[in-house]
Amino acid sequence: MPESTKTTSSATMAAIVQHRYGAPEQVLTRAQIARPAPGADEVLVRMRATSVNTPDWLAVQGTPRILRLQAGLRRPAAPVRGSDIAGIVAAVGTNVTDLRIGDEVFGSQWGTRSRPGTFAEYALAPADHLIPKPAELSFEEAGASVMSGITALRAVRDVGRAGPGRRILINGASGGVGTFAIQIAKSLGAHVTAVCSTRNIEFVQSLGADEVVDYTRDDYTRGAQRYDVILDNVMNHPPAANAAVLTPSGTFIPNSIGDAGGFLGGLPRIARAQLMGRGSADVRSVTCVPDRPNLRDLAALLASGDIAVIIERTYPLNEAAAAIAHMLGHRARGQIAVTIPSADEIF
Ligand SMILES: NC(=O)c1ccc[n+]([C@@H]2O[C@H](COP(=O)([O-])OP(=O)(O)OC[C@H]3O[C@@H](n4cnc5c(N)ncnc54)[C@H](OP(=O)(O)O)[C@@H]3O)[C@@H](O)[C@H]2O)c1
Repeated sequence: MPESTKTTSSATMAAIVQHRYGAPEQVLTRAQIARPAPGADEVLVRMRATSVNTPDWLAVQGTPRILRLQAGLRRPAAPVRGSDIAGIVAAVGTNVTDLRIGDEVFGSQWGTRSRPGTFAEYALAPADHLIPKPAELSFEEAGASVMSGITALRAVRDVGRAGPGRRILINGASGGVGTFAIQIAKSLGAHVTAVCSTRNIEFVQSLGADEVVDYTRDDYTRGAQRYDVILDNVMNHPPAANAAVLTPSGTFIPNSIGDAGGFLGGLPRIARAQLMGRGSADVRSVTCVPDRPNLRDLAALLASGDIAVIIERTYPLNEAAAAIAHMLGHRARGQIAVTIPSADEIF
């Protein structure tokens, strides 16, 4: 694939593309690709910021390999990664009446047919997956909030029914989903136990965690404490070990396919958890649904200051490979943001 040129015509845009699976630095290249035009119900956004989330690094590596059956056997069928959106409306489809050119918006392509992805100068999304960006949020914060924030919101509020008197344990509390989950659970009045390594103890406490389990010293699945909800963003313990530390009516939320190695990655462990859910325990999965009601709820929490977007590091679009490699290290504190500068500055 040729490197991009400095100029952009009205019909093309700068993007980071991927035509084979592998390490981010080896398979992600800069390119000029066709600028998409909005369908009747879609909006074209001049991107200002997006973020790296687990589906991005899974798709870059093509792991676990079983996912290639859907994503493209030899190479990715969709060449541009990214789903979170923050930017300015550049064009609207004929059916879109409530968003206008120039509006500052945020939202997501996740779960929609809008393509290409958001690691690009422009991105499409259905209008019902975008809302006005709260003035209190920067583009960077908005673009780093959607997938992790809405996943955490649905896990903690909808599935876990977090509230006063309920104890929630969050495994993987210092990552993107975990940092949102701690704050949302606290804003709903729940008692939060955060599981992280030694270096992150003060960090998760600063987000509101009532108790912390340092996984380098203690194993929460062997402790005496029982939990109403376990949100497991790591899945490094057998599902039955999690079930053993739930209250009798407690809920286990498996939310990771683990390190994704091999043909199946951590999918067998997820399957075992779901099987367990048919018998001895309440097991519920969570999905990210970035529709307008969820986006509005997330925006309200962020705009009120009840929760904040924790960004460990921000990369410009031309360093997208480094941004994805950062997350692949599995040590990210909060989100990894990606900013999309003006057209002249992109590459
Ligand atoms: N259901 C959905 O729709 C949905 C959407 C988004 C994400 N997810 C899932 O959510 C999971 C978490 O994603 P993420 O974005 O938060 O990022 P992440 O990259 O998985 O989180 C990084 C964090 O994990 C912590 N960590 C690593 N090993 C740990 C362990 N053994 N015990 C506890 N913490 C550990 C690290 O802290 P230390 O350095 O302290 O170890 C680091 O802060 C992913 O598996 C992803 O697939 C699901």
